[in-house]
Amino acid sequence: MDKGMTKDLLAFIGRCPSNFHTAAAVRRELEGYEILQEGEVWNLRPGGRYCLTRNGASLVAFRVPAGEWQGFLLAAGHSDSPTFQIKTGGEVQGPENYLRLNTERYGGMLYDSWLDRPLSAAGRLLVRTDRGVESRLVEIDRDLLLIPRVAIHMNRRANEGMAYDPKQDLLPLLGLAGGPSLLSLAAECAGVREEDVAASELSLYVREPGTIWGAAGEFVSAPRLDDLQCVYAALRGFLSASEGRGLPVLCVFDSEEVGSATRQGADGTLLRDVLGRICAALGRELPVEIHHSFLVSADNAHAVHPNHPELADPQNRPRLNGGVVIKHSASRRYTTDAVSEAVFAELCRRAGVPVQHFANRSDMAGGSTLGNIVGSHVSLNTVDVGLGQLAMHSAYETAGALDTAYMAEALRTFYSAGLTVRGDGEIEIH
Ligand code: CO
Repeated sequence: MDKGMTKDLLAFIGRCPSNFHTAAAVRRELEGYEILQEGEVWNLRPGGRYCLTRNGASLVAFRVPAGEWQGFLLAAGHSDSPTFQIKTGGEVQGPENYLRLNTERYGGMLYDSWLDRPLSAAGRLLVRTDRGVESRLVEIDRDLLLIPRVAIHMNRRANEGMAYDPKQDLLPLLGLAGGPSLLSLAAECAGVREEDVAASELSLYVREPGTIWGAAGEFVSAPRLDDLQCVYAALRGFLSASEGRGLPVLCVFDSEEVGSATRQGADGTLLRDVLGRICAALGRELPVEIHHSFLVSADNAHAVHPNHPELADPQNRPRLNGGVVIKHSASRRYTTDAVSEAVFAELCRRAGVPVQHFANRSDMAGGSTLGNIVGSHVSLNTVDVGLGQLAMHSAYETAGALDTAYMAEALRTFYSAGLTVRGDGEIEIH
């Protein structure tokens, strides 16, 4: 495994300053894929390649095999990351001649990682047209905002653990009185008139590009590694796979960091709708195909921390560059069970990709992800996996530079395979 894919990952992350940009960036990589509309009838044919988006922030892509197939082979990651969403009418005048932005937390971030670093805003504008409104992606592609800390001289206890107040300590500075408004800057970037902007959905993003570093270039640090590292690896695995005996599906879901309960999130009807429509268009029965399907839910995992190894489970503690992580939870916040673990571990063995395991320390609740949420709508054999990383939900996260390629290779092998489930629990892996 080499680091070339991680270099490409950093360029990809640079093209994904918001959840909407992530869906658009993935779609641009799907060269030759026909774009389907949910509001039209789908005519699918063997050998066809298709993709669709919902609400601009979630995406599903799939290929209909030219030959025989049975069941769906799915991998899913998420397009969103913790950030601060800018409130409507979000400019705060003062104190003095300062102009700040009013924001609201999106997801659970480490607050202090957002301070004292250049930021900007990205998202979408809804623009009035002759016929109604339409959506435009917008990124203000320059250093525009910053959240300044208070000097140590004015807060001598700053190093003893700060309790940040989001309404006071975390508002970004935009400029001084008399400067242009955020909306006028966003409209200019989108090439529209400010008075034509009917609504906006903008959030902050970290400007600093990613970097590969360490004594031997072992590490990669970048904004939004959770979950763009898995999204990118899944995309590469999906695109490089050869035709197998299942129908390959790539899913990128929005809203994971806020519980997935949106129209386009994993707790909506998107995946069930798409799989149902594929079956209807191709004359298949959904429950039969689901029985032979397998979902790899790919979202980054916690690696053992160099300064705090005691926070990890004594045995199930992933190392950076140690390969793909299978996540386990007795409460099934991760979906992995012995069946899905065995199938995925066998695929990794065939791919030559090392596997490691994560479980929360026994007195910690830990996090969850989209696998079990998808499962409540479309009950599939599912494994929860990820790549080990440090400082999850920091504005600048750290992972292993070799691991991106491990995940891509595992998923390439998965998408090129095929499963036949005989009865209940016996699975042939093609
Ligand atoms: Co995540």
